[in-house]
Amino acid sequence: MLRLIQSVALCIGLLGFFTQVNAKELYVFQDAQLKAKDGKSAKVYLGVPVKVKKDMGKESKVVIHGFLDGDNLYSTKSKELLIAKLDKGFKVIKKSASQVELVGSIDNELLTENAAEIWEEHEEFYFDMCSVCHAAPQVPHHTMIEWEALFTPMVGFAKLDKEEASYLLRYIKSNASNGLVKVEH
Ligand code: HEC
Repeated sequence: MLRLIQSVALCIGLLGFFTQVNAKELYVFQDAQLKAKDGKSAKVYLGVPVKVKKDMGKESKVVIHGFLDGDNLYSTKSKELLIAKLDKGFKVIKKSASQVELVGSIDNELLTENAAEIWEEHEEFYFDMCSVCHAAPQVPHHTMIEWEALFTPMVGFAKLDKEEASYLLRYIKSNASNGLVKVEH
């Protein structure tokens, strides 16, 4: 009888372990489509963290958290960083007044564990553009809102066009102290 209890306990333990492994957090490493069961989809931007609910081989069922304003999903309540754009009629799960969850499937080839790898090219461009006149500032040393103020005058200094500026600003905000990338400081 004791043995039976022991093996049941072991099974439950293992089950818990596997569920945890399954619920791991990955990052979208390029702009990707999140497809809901009903065929609606959402565009998810690179660098966005997703919780994997179920790995189905070619794709994974994932959950994305954010704050909704119309069809736009932001990483924070103050809407500094757009993380997804929903198709008309994409159904979200309400978690609180403004916080929601998106559930859908995403191609496994577009997911990675390694956040640094997503931003390699952006980082190179950042150092090219932003270490000409002074040492390039440490991106995680400021919040997203601080960066908005710091970045604006530098767009002219670094002679960035509109596309380059928004490319860099997405990198900077995503890696800011309250951005998407969780690192130890
Ligand atoms: C052409 C020269 C030049 C380039 C290129 C340049 N900066 Fe600057 N940066 C300055 C000067 C001059 C200051 C100080 C005066 C000021 O704050 O306006 C400054 C100040 C800053 C500060 C404020 C530092 C502080 O502690 O107050 C930040 C942050 C910054 N730059 C970020 C950037 C970023 C990000 C880029 C790349 C997009 C960049 N800079 C490119 C000239 C430059």
